[in-house]
Amino acid sequence: MTIETVGVIGAGQMGSGIAHVLALAGYRVTLMDVDAERVRAAIAKIGSNMERQVARGKIGDEEQKLALSRIRATTNLPEIGVSDLVIEAATEKEAVKQKIFDDLAPHLKPMTILTSNTSSLSITRLAGRTQQPERFMGLHFMNPVPVMQLVELIRGIATSRETFEAVRAVVERLGKTAVVAEDFPAFIVNRILIPMINEAVYTLYEGVGSVFDIDQSMKLGANHPMGPLELADFIGLDTCLAIMNVLHEGLADSKYRPCPLLVKYVEAGWLGRKVARGFYDYR
Ligand code: CAA
Repeated sequence: MTIETVGVIGAGQMGSGIAHVLALAGYRVTLMDVDAERVRAAIAKIGSNMERQVARGKIGDEEQKLALSRIRATTNLPEIGVSDLVIEAATEKEAVKQKIFDDLAPHLKPMTILTSNTSSLSITRLAGRTQQPERFMGLHFMNPVPVMQLVELIRGIATSRETFEAVRAVVERLGKTAVVAEDFPAFIVNRILIPMINEAVYTLYEGVGSVFDIDQSMKLGANHPMGPLELADFIGLDTCLAIMNVLHEGLADSKYRPCPLLVKYVEAGWLGRKVARGFYDYR
């Protein structure tokens, strides 16, 4: 099962980063989003991120031009169905993801492999709604995709060995490192990372430290490249909360209770960098 064409659904931070690395690795990519403006912005962002790589000598000028020419943008979901591999990278809401797979179903060619970049949801449940659960699995990239080395591979209960190996080969061609996670809420990285962020929000909520001191502590005291609150802003507080809720409901343990301050920020629409306001003010 050789993969040459990839359809990426969702042109947000993750979708555009995924399209970026796929195109550089030689795949022909169709990047789809319902919002035409978001697709345009994503293509521009991919261009500027590649410029940065050229300026730092990571890739050549010609390589960048070729990679950009391999990315096609669309707002039309059916066009994704002809790809060898589909990577769904829409918002972290199960109903949204299910609707995408439902809408895509009639347009899929017989051998297409479906994957979701979900950061927490059950792969088996998402796959169970499709006609082809043996050709479905989790493929979870980290943000920023062009920089982060890791990709989590998650099998659903019905995922076939052929599907798994074909997707693993894609990760290898991207030059990234795969780890295999079982299909439990939030897999490995977010099972550990997001409760740490939630604990940092509790630390702020309980007045143990200021935003600055909490982040400074983890940067200088634990050598994290970003403090947990800065990282929460970077990931998106809505995404952090969605993942905490999946952990809380899925594992039924009060230790995963989302911090009320995190809930309040999300209710206020202070979602982090993407809206220029979160634990920090970017305006
Ligand atoms: N595209 C291409 N290159 C990029 C980039 C992008 N979007 N963003 C950063 N870079 C490159 C820069 O060009 C730079 O390259 P060089 O090393 O060649 O100079 C390098 O990355 C470092 O960037 P900067 O110098 O601009 O900034 P920095 O040193 O502060 O690093 C960071 C930025 C890489 C984001 C770093 O702060 C970091 O690693 N932060 C933690 C990120 C993290 O934890 N991600 C995981 C989030 S969790 C997740 O993704 C899972 C989930 O489901 C929620």
